Amino acid sequence: MPAFRPPHIAASEITPRSIYMSRRSFLGAAAAGIAFAGAGDVLAAPLSASPSIFKTDEPLTPKEAITSYNNFYEFGVNKEDPAANSGDFKPLPWTVKVDGMVGKPKEFGIEELMKFPLEDRTYRLRCVEGWSMVIPWIGFPLSALLDQVEPLGSAKYVAFETVVRPEQMPGQRGFFQPLPWPYIEGLRLDEARHPLTILAVGLYGETLPNQNGAPIRLVVPWKYGFKSIKSIVKISLVEEQPQTTWKNSNAREYGFYSNVNPAVDHPRWSQATEQRIGDGGFFNVARRDTLPFNGYADEVASLYEGMDLKANY
Ligand code: MTE
Repeated sequence: MPAFRPPHIAASEITPRSIYMSRRSFLGAAAAGIAFAGAGDVLAAPLSASPSIFKTDEPLTPKEAITSYNNFYEFGVNKEDPAANSGDFKPLPWTVKVDGMVGKPKEFGIEELMKFPLEDRTYRLRCVEGWSMVIPWIGFPLSALLDQVEPLGSAKYVAFETVVRPEQMPGQRGFFQPLPWPYIEGLRLDEARHPLTILAVGLYGETLPNQNGAPIRLVVPWKYGFKSIKSIVKISLVEEQPQTTWKNSNAREYGFYSNVNPAVDHPRWSQATEQRIGDGGFFNVARRDTLPFNGYADEVASLYEGMDLKANY
């Protein structure tokens, strides 16, 4: 991945939760009108979600930064490319096929997925490049979806796939293509079923912008950001550890687990500290300590009991 360049965001631009929540209820008041607009507008309506036990009191990263400083190589390799180049992407109509070692394979329409019990999930996101954000996602536990397809006893892993649409994704056409497509990712089944693991359909009270993985993306907050695969069209329950895009492209630098771990450096840089986007703007280079499992050790460390986390990076 390319070198780290933080966006120019002043600390004063960080949105307190109380302010964005009041914006949300303002949007909510307008929602009645949208209700008549029909299924085609499912992604245009503001989202209502229940509070969750998983939250943080840390200041939220400004929406402007979350939606303008992205990694989404299907739209280009620079941080500003996804916002600039995703205007033609069509997140509707959309389906997610769930297949493999399941009793009840099923293709879910996005309208159906939006009806899962949505929750506010404010999570830290730590990118492998050394920056982090605090993002108020809206989503539902991946386990709720897996329950519906009834995984078989032989299923040990979950494989995920992003859409391939060169006509709408400029990074997928032309002479230079940074990665092989589709972008693919995977989790162990117990990681996929963990209550922290969600499928996100929104952020800051609204449906996902294209650059953040519309209409539905994975969020696994204790792993480096690249595990959180965007614009998912397929989820497969499988027996063997699935291939993943970044491990395939450079297995020495990117492993299957990719748990945030300040004690295991990337071969080309330290992972001990990170820059929180919005911490004092461009000229403030103050970095904060990176926490084991991105601060979620109490919840997830037991998943890896007895494992060598240096060998399983
Ligand atoms: N998913 C797809 N399909 N393609 C990508 O290039 N980039 C990953 C991840 N998911 C990526 C992806 C990386 S490196 C990060 S850090 C996060 O998305 C960034 O998510 P965000 O832009 O919503 O912050």
